[in-house]
Amino acid sequence: MGCLSLWLECIECGEKFDINSRFYTCSKCGGLLEVELELNKIKLKSKWFSQQPRVWKYRAFMPVIDDSKIVSLGEGGTPLVRCDRLAKEVGVRELYIKFEGANPTGSFKDRGMTVGVTKALEFGVKTVACASTGNTSASLAAYAAKAGLRCVVLLPKGNVALGKLAQTLVYGAQVLAIKGNFDDALAMVRKLCEEKKEIYLLNSLNPFRPQGQKSIGFEIADQLGWEVPDRVVVPMGNCANIWAIYKGFFELDSIGLTKGIPKMVGIQAEGAKPIVDAIKRGLDKFEPVKKPETIATAIRIGNPVNGPKAIRAIRFSDGTAEAVSDREIIKAQKSMARLEGIGAEPASASTIAGLKKLVREKTIKQDERVVCVATGHLLKDPEEAVKVAERSLVSSKVKIR
Ligand code: F0G
Repeated sequence: MGCLSLWLECIECGEKFDINSRFYTCSKCGGLLEVELELNKIKLKSKWFSQQPRVWKYRAFMPVIDDSKIVSLGEGGTPLVRCDRLAKEVGVRELYIKFEGANPTGSFKDRGMTVGVTKALEFGVKTVACASTGNTSASLAAYAAKAGLRCVVLLPKGNVALGKLAQTLVYGAQVLAIKGNFDDALAMVRKLCEEKKEIYLLNSLNPFRPQGQKSIGFEIADQLGWEVPDRVVVPMGNCANIWAIYKGFFELDSIGLTKGIPKMVGIQAEGAKPIVDAIKRGLDKFEPVKKPETIATAIRIGNPVNGPKAIRAIRFSDGTAEAVSDREIIKAQKSMARLEGIGAEPASASTIAGLKKLVREKTIKQDERVVCVATGHLLKDPEEAVKVAERSLVSSKVKIR
């Protein structure tokens, strides 16, 4: 069941493969794979422009062959919230937050999983697997449940936020807690899927999953009336999302639906910033961080497998990268909540912290139109939220602070 207008391509050596190939990296050089499609074949019907944003509105850009296999929980169509009060605090003219916490399992991962799990059904697999800092596992567990597939997840023991763990368990995944960090868990699940070919890997190394995440770029442009912002700020963990969003904007620009590509800005935590270091030093390769550490457990990753894609997204768009401290992240998380009513988990708040820093350093100008992607919901990590918030007053009398 080949498809000529869709194929896999190695980002390193350019080798092309059939779209129905089931390997995760280039069989020639080991490089990362990307799905490519013949963009000039895409025809958009006029009713398309009146439809509300949703991942499957952009079906024409998705590498799915059999529509009857689509597994959906109504993902995408998240709000793009204009944030004037926060813009003032940060120091930019026009600021928006793309609130990905509004997805079915509370993070952007659902956009990737609707496509990834659909591909799993197309391939006829019965078991899917991933390693995760928590959001990928929650999302995969939900979509696997919806599709009737068995789900195995490897989590770094003691370092997954409570909300994410609760979701993963209740959606019925088989959870293995690994002694080690996310990078160790990913290496283990990759080995497992190499040895047991019947288990399908749905980490972002899988080239199909990030295709669904391109829809963040599609939706931002769609919600701005088919205009693109000057900058899009994204937290980087395993580094697929920044690439996927860039690719979304690239495809819109290629078919002439929008003009230009926003400068992509990648943010990491100070204790886990291999890509920021590579970008700042002008290097093409990054040095993994052995013991990543940050309050933002979602992006507590030292050896991001999609690092080469993130470096490309930043370079190709003339963007930049910055690191922020845990203190800056916590401050930004409170500002988002208290000035705009947006509850985001720490990794998401890193975008506002990073933006603030880059405006202060004058890398980002005050007259720019900026979109920050708030990747996950505040309730994903309730323990962190309660820890950093002011204590409640214990009193028998009513006193106002
Ligand atoms: N923000 C949140 C809330 C995340 O959960 C993640 C990644 C990222 C940002 C970074 O995205 O990996 O594409 O660069 N979480 C993964 C997980 C690693 O297992 O849930 P990325």
